[in-house]
Amino acid sequence: MSKLEQSKLPAHVAIIMDGNGRWAKMRGLPRAEGHIHGLESVRNIVTLTRKLHIPFLTLYAFSKENWTRPRAEVKKLLTLLGSFLESELQLMMDEDIRFRVVGNIMDFPKRLQTQLNAAMQKTSNNSSLSLNIALSYSGREEILNAVREIINDVKMGHITNIDENVFQGYLYTKGMPDPDLLIRTSGEIRVSNFLLWQIAYTEIYVTDTLWPDFREDAYMKALTEYTKRERRFGSVKENSSGRA
Ligand code: IPE
Ligand code: IPE
Ligand code: MG
Repeated sequence: MSKLEQSKLPAHVAIIMDGNGRWAKMRGLPRAEGHIHGLESVRNIVTLTRKLHIPFLTLYAFSKENWTRPRAEVKKLLTLLGSFLESELQLMMDEDIRFRVVGNIMDFPKRLQTQLNAAMQKTSNNSSLSLNIALSYSGREEILNAVREIINDVKMGHITNIDENVFQGYLYTKGMPDPDLLIRTSGEIRVSNFLLWQIAYTEIYVTDTLWPDFREDAYMKALTEYTKRERRFGSVKENSSGRA
């Protein structure tokens, strides 16, 4: 940890947790085993994020498009999510972690909806780490929903002016900073409908490491690389000697 420049750490890390299936396949195991080991990575990464005082972590756990997977796999993922919530809720309380869902909770079975809402409610006053789990999430849908709500609010006379700030207030990530760093595991160089609005200027880091193998060392490597990036946001370096 000493090598990391704390002041340069991101305030918000987003992760596309990919590669569980391939991890299992390489071992001749069912895909479910990959998801089970992937959950262990979630625990590791959440704990380390909190230790590093990074205040926001958003994990892509299940996309809207993932509903098209075989029924048995979807069922397994829902079961794992339920037991994760059950086993980790106390830990989230102990570690002062606020749990939030980004995505459409209504797509889930009633029992899981109740569990998710209860976890959000119970942890709502925690503040050391905001842990967002993207579930039944689609970036395009999030933007469309925002547009629908804005139209409604304009009609009702609640708002008159729409700018980036107002727009962001209609997203699941309302009030949160945009991710500084987006990590994708398993080598796929694509965004897969994740946080489309929010990642406008996010630094992207792709690693070949599969999610179930993505533990402390791999995370530290990603964070270290991030601290060395130069973010320009379309501008030029302050002390740039380059001539126009
Ligand atoms: C990520 O691993 C977990 C989810 C999308 C739920 P995958 O299940 O996509 O694993 P691969 O990409 O098939 O290896
Ligand atoms: C993205 O992974 C979604 C999650 C990690 C939850 P996928 O495995 O679903 O994405 P594609 O199909 O490779 O784009
Ligand atoms: Mg995948």
